[in-house]
Amino acid sequence: MRTVILTLYAFLYENIIRRLIFRSSAHDAHRQMLRLLAFFDRSPLFDNLLAAAHRLVFPSHERSVGGVRLSNPLILAAGLVKGEGFETEEKAAAAVARGENIIPGWRAMPRLVGPVEFGSFTRHPRLGNPGVVVWRDETTRSTQNRVGLRNPGVKAAAAFLARHRHHLPPYFGINIAVSPGVTELNRQEIEITESFRAFLGQNIRPTWFTLNLSCPNTEDDPGSRQTEEQTRRLCRAARDAIGTDNVPLWVKISPELAHEQYRVLLRVFYETGIQAVIATNTLPRPAPDDPALTAGVGGGKLHAAALEAVRLLAQEKALHHYAVDIIGCGGILDGCSYRQFCAAGADAVQYWSALVYRGPLAAALIESELQHGNA
Ligand SMILES: Cc1cc2nc3c(=O)[nH]c(=O)nc-3n(C[C@H](O)[C@H](O)[C@H](O)COP(=O)(O)O)c2cc1C
Repeated sequence: MRTVILTLYAFLYENIIRRLIFRSSAHDAHRQMLRLLAFFDRSPLFDNLLAAAHRLVFPSHERSVGGVRLSNPLILAAGLVKGEGFETEEKAAAAVARGENIIPGWRAMPRLVGPVEFGSFTRHPRLGNPGVVVWRDETTRSTQNRVGLRNPGVKAAAAFLARHRHHLPPYFGINIAVSPGVTELNRQEIEITESFRAFLGQNIRPTWFTLNLSCPNTEDDPGSRQTEEQTRRLCRAARDAIGTDNVPLWVKISPELAHEQYRVLLRVFYETGIQAVIATNTLPRPAPDDPALTAGVGGGKLHAAALEAVRLLAQEKALHHYAVDIIGCGGILDGCSYRQFCAAGADAVQYWSALVYRGPLAAALIESELQHGNA
């Protein structure tokens, strides 16, 4: 039954819905998708329908990873459910007070796809980069973005989630990044501490937290927060901020780091009590409209680099028996690319571009393809 529904869904999505969506630019389609999610969030009817669709197509496939037990090992990566941008904390707080949905998808997406990582959120709200910030490359099934960490800031995000605490999903992560442009390590530590505490202070305890050490689309040096000293101090700051709340802490890193850097980072993660590493964020590449700007590439073009990062981390983990789980992320678009990550040593995976190319039930399709050994 599940296979029949998924086959029909794949046919409809790939032959009709995707063609319609792809008539709009990636940027416009992205904005429309967020509006649609906001609409789904407020309708109890859709809430029930999405939950029913989830039960129909997602098998219960529990998996322990990074200190949490998830309903499913395919997690929707950070960057979709991350919220609107605001100029100031006051404006973001006022929007929450007015009852606006400042994090479109917070309710609908987890209902439909299971585990979702919310964010990235930064200490202060950000409007993100102006102009066109999302692109797609259909031939390689890739995405590219320079959203620039547009988000409502941790305080408003925490207040919003607290306001809706009775409808929060059973599994969700919160991804936190240092604000671009904050270069001094002491300031970065303060930002991290305040950011984690903003959520915990509102008694928002996600299933896991992710410390995002890699933000390639903000003209910030993507490697800058991934040196030994900085990584150690930021991981400790996050760990200390979580304190006795005991929420598992994951870290997200970049592709294309030097082999030695991955080795050092994994040791630091182990030593600072990080429970999982997400490899990887997007590849920094020139933006399609302006080569002087950087935009992060995901999907097919990221796959090889992310897979290589997972392989290196897995080898290092096996060599030293580090208790740090590895979560693959980069071009997981079908059963085949998923299988490659599992074979390389990933304990679970995250996906984003698959949503664009295979639609909202991408994770169910990918899992089914893995099970049936096709694609
Ligand atoms: C539009 C867009 C926005 C994103 N924003 C974030 C973000 O805020 N934080 C983050 O950690 N990753 C972000 N990402 C990266 C994804 O989480 C993921 O790491 C990346 O797209 C690679 O996965 P994929 O190959 O399946 O797309 C974003 C990706 C896209 C396409």
